[in-house]
Amino acid sequence: MSAHEFGGDWTQEKLLRLRKYLSAYMTIFTANPKARTLTTTYMDAFAGTGYRNPRIKDTQTLWLDGLDDPEAEVFLRGSARIALELEPSFGNYLFIERDPNHAAELRKLQADFPSTAITVIEGEASSFLTEWCRTTDWRKNRAVVFLDPYGMQVDWSLIETIAQTRAIDLWLLFPIGVAVNRLLTTSGPPPEEWAQALDRIFGTPKWRDEFYAPPRNLNLFGEEEPLEKRADFDRISRFFVKRLRTIFAGVADNPLPLYNSKSTPLYLLCFAAGNPRGATTAQRIAQDILRR
Ligand SMILES: C[S@@+](CC[C@H](N)C(=O)[O-])C[C@H]1O[C@@H](n2cnc3c(N)ncnc32)[C@H](O)[C@@H]1O
Repeated sequence: MSAHEFGGDWTQEKLLRLRKYLSAYMTIFTANPKARTLTTTYMDAFAGTGYRNPRIKDTQTLWLDGLDDPEAEVFLRGSARIALELEPSFGNYLFIERDPNHAAELRKLQADFPSTAITVIEGEASSFLTEWCRTTDWRKNRAVVFLDPYGMQVDWSLIETIAQTRAIDLWLLFPIGVAVNRLLTTSGPPPEEWAQALDRIFGTPKWRDEFYAPPRNLNLFGEEEPLEKRADFDRISRFFVKRLRTIFAGVADNPLPLYNSKSTPLYLLCFAAGNPRGATTAQRIAQDILRR
């Protein structure tokens, strides 16, 4: 297995939540005779390898917690494998992965799940996902999409395309601390290139008014002062949730900040439900999962 090491304790947090939601989703789907007629897909667009190599600290935590604890054991698996192990399982599994070595690892998962429909797409997440959203017949299909990028690879236009299907529930890691807050410079608004990256991730230029304002204290000599940054993690989080609400039927109002060991938020784990009929239930379940 090629080494694929990422994340810290926050990775465990994210994977536990994802697993809980996928499990609840499929249980509800299978119990409902009408929903059972639809084809379900789990789409992991930044799929990794199916595994994650625990760091030493994680391994110690595992020993402390007890290795035979299924909740602990799940930490060694990546999102793809976690989704495959679900019972009841999804009808289809689609994994997109840009790195050829990671994609090769994902293909090996088929041997462990011989009767499961697994497709590994070696390529770029946004282009494949956009095409898949546009060409799938959403009258007959439902899906959960997990977007777990390292950084700012998910543009708002992709999130919009997903929302437009009105059939997808989305779990997304929003790079609040690893990227967005850093681009929101404290010494006045960011340079043009960074501002454009923020336009792409928020899908609007309105973040400028939301996160920057004239200084509170007037300059005594009437000189024009540069705008001040008014954004903190809470404000950025509320702004992004508000943006999601403009396009999805239901959005969890309590996205989960995932912290590094220095208690700095790295990502926000966000949830949005696309199908108007199922949105209230989906949002309630997701909010409950995010709260714990
Ligand atoms: C954080 S890891 C995913 C971890 C995975 N969700 C898990 O829990 O096991 C991100 C993965 O996305 C892949 N990746 C990065 N940019 C990509 C892109 N534009 N399209 C597809 N895959 C990409 C990386 O190679 C990496 O394997």
